[in-house]
Amino acid sequence: MAYYKINGGRPLEGQVTISGAKNAALAIIPAAILAGQPCVIENLPIIEDVHVLTEILRLMGAEVELYENGCMRIDPTKIDNYEVTFEMVSKLRASYYLLGAMLGRYGHAALALPGGCSIGNRPIDFHIKGMRALGAEVEIRNGIVYAYADELRGAEIYLDMASVGATINIMLAACRAEGQTVITNAAKEPHVVDVANFLNMMGASIKGAGTDVIRIKGRKELHGTSYAIIPDQIEAGTFMIAAVATKGNVVLNNIIPTHLEAISAKLMECGAHIAEGDDGTEFFLQVQGGDRLRAVNIKTLPYPGFPTDLQQPMMALLTMSKGNSYIVENIFEDRFNHVPELIRMGASINVNGRTATIEGVEKLYGANVRATDLRAGAALIVAALAAEGTTIVRNIHFIDRGYERFEQKLRALGADIERIEED
Ligand code: EPZ
Repeated sequence: MAYYKINGGRPLEGQVTISGAKNAALAIIPAAILAGQPCVIENLPIIEDVHVLTEILRLMGAEVELYENGCMRIDPTKIDNYEVTFEMVSKLRASYYLLGAMLGRYGHAALALPGGCSIGNRPIDFHIKGMRALGAEVEIRNGIVYAYADELRGAEIYLDMASVGATINIMLAACRAEGQTVITNAAKEPHVVDVANFLNMMGASIKGAGTDVIRIKGRKELHGTSYAIIPDQIEAGTFMIAAVATKGNVVLNNIIPTHLEAISAKLMECGAHIAEGDDGTEFFLQVQGGDRLRAVNIKTLPYPGFPTDLQQPMMALLTMSKGNSYIVENIFEDRFNHVPELIRMGASINVNGRTATIEGVEKLYGANVRATDLRAGAALIVAALAAEGTTIVRNIHFIDRGYERFEQKLRALGADIERIEED
């Protein structure tokens, strides 16, 4: 197992280029199954989750070439295995998108239930409700979801919660259904729009992505295409928070400022300085940390609200602000597992249900900590970069899942971070 050794207290300075969005990649790669021809996807982040999804698709029979430059060529026409086993799903929760893609393309699918993780139960009942609304027979037996449809027919589907996964999965299945599907109370995250754009490039007819109501007119066939995915708003937000936490001065390239409105607003409320610019071809953001920051309150909400995936790194920053901050985690029921680790570094945090009260302290101190999930790992890295002394962060395989070349990018910004492979 590998771990990070970080000597904190050094301001991050310089430029960083943000990679493609993990959560767009994990949906767009399975979406390629719907095409009757090969697809080329560009700007993919070379992260563990993309490698795992590539392996799963190869196990299903697809021909997949993934190149170091983030370009993938996928030929789904060779797929001949329609079962996504527990072993596959346990490596990648987001393999649930294969359910909608296979149902939409072949009319049948078998997917091991993804189960919970360290941030909550993570059920997929909204996904199943959507497939049934489209006319699929869906049965759960021995932990496997079996879905079958002679013919999928468009339907009106209301989502009880603006679920990102359910919105995308229903879109995938509805693309080739007979007639029109309307998804109401749809998720509006940037990667929902990215998936819709990719599908439309394949010849689908999807309107309204990015709003509460998405309309999909089914098409008999979808063709291959090439497509570059959007930059990762959560990776960008993580670097913005790290820049402020270390009182640094960082320019982020390859970003889409509108995707970062919530995090920019909150960091400026804390007292950080953020300037947006463009060099004629692409946008950049300059983020500067000030002196001791002001406490702020955070409520995680579906997009365009404050993203739950940045709640954990933001908490690391707020442990060092002046005064009390309050964080309410409205999306996942168990997303505070990073708190005991931050307390080990000197933070003062009290959790009561979905609310964390953070009493700001002057500084954090290096300690031995362990990541419990992807974004908890990001939070501990932010804390370690700002802390006085040396921090050891274990379980960094969680971080490898979602951040491309994380230590290289941080080192290029002046961080003293070393990855050590343990026997
Ligand atoms: C996606 O998860 C992301 N993962 C998560 O990012 C992200 O935190 C989340 O959206 C919210 O933005 C991927 O895109 C691969 P949801 P997803 O369906 O689709 C409940 C990261 O760190 N719910 O919007 O699973 C659910 O339990 C990861 O990159 C049901 O009850 O999120 C949660 O409380 C973590 N039934 C809420 O809805 C369902 O059928 C929102 O979940 C589906 C969801």
